[in-house]
Amino acid sequence: VNHLLGIKYLMESDIQLIFETADHFKEVINRSIKKVPSLRDITIANIFFENSTRTKLSFELAEKRLSADVINFSASQSSVKKGETLIDTVNNILSMKVDMVVMRHPNPGAGIFLSKHVKASIVNAGDGAHEHPTQALLDSYSIRERLGDVAGKNVVIVGDILHSRVALSNIFALKLQGANVKVCGPKTLLPKYVASLGVGVETNLRKALEWCDVANMLRIQNERLDISYFPTTREYTQQFGVNKQLLDSLDKEIVIMHPGPINRGVEITSDVADSKQSIILNQVENGVAIRMAVIYLLASKIKQ
Ligand code: CP
Repeated sequence: VNHLLGIKYLMESDIQLIFETADHFKEVINRSIKKVPSLRDITIANIFFENSTRTKLSFELAEKRLSADVINFSASQSSVKKGETLIDTVNNILSMKVDMVVMRHPNPGAGIFLSKHVKASIVNAGDGAHEHPTQALLDSYSIRERLGDVAGKNVVIVGDILHSRVALSNIFALKLQGANVKVCGPKTLLPKYVASLGVGVETNLRKALEWCDVANMLRIQNERLDISYFPTTREYTQQFGVNKQLLDSLDKEIVIMHPGPINRGVEITSDVADSKQSIILNQVENGVAIRMAVIYLLASKIKQ
């Protein structure tokens, strides 16, 4: 397969290969070797139809560290605004001899659709509320780095599961690797199908935190929510926000994760986000090595 469209399409051995490749690139970066010549003959287009800080910058950095040629496309400043379709847009980019497309799009399945209509390797950088595969890979990689392994660990994903591509990709990735997974949040933000994915469901945050080794705190996505999902942000924070007092009252030290961007004081307080229990910036750091690994492995198939 020449694409990374979702974790759903991967096997456990694919994840291990990506992690071993990322280990190698992380070790290279840590030796202050910031550029390797691996992809000198590959051209990559990063096309973003939604805003991004971490994903966009770390894909670009990963590509540059592999010596690929990179072009960046922001839909809001493009002829998409004049009505050009997704397929026309991408085919025009590909006619300039681009080999790989990294795409973020607000529509679930946009990457899958594109992969069926254009001749290029597609990497899904987030498609609506569907999947965000590289985020889940870097999340599991960061758990492995902090706790030694993902298998057998208890991981709770807290918050807006209903609208979260990070949640779905993490559930697939964690289950594949043998972790025990629960989701926790208000009933209105917990889709009924999660139980069918082999995931526990909890609406009491304290119970979820007492059970887990790792809590992945999702962002409340104000852009996808309305009042019908939860009465007020303040009430959400009272029931599902993590603060230092709550963490200190547990009888063990759990690992805190967040995909970013953080709503400080809503799903997580600053003293938790910036504490030694938090691996939030490790996740961002690992995002570069993981994306280097994904691009390198896909590009090696293009070269064959
Ligand atoms: N985690 C994540 O996808 O962040 P960005 O939206 O800033 O890329």
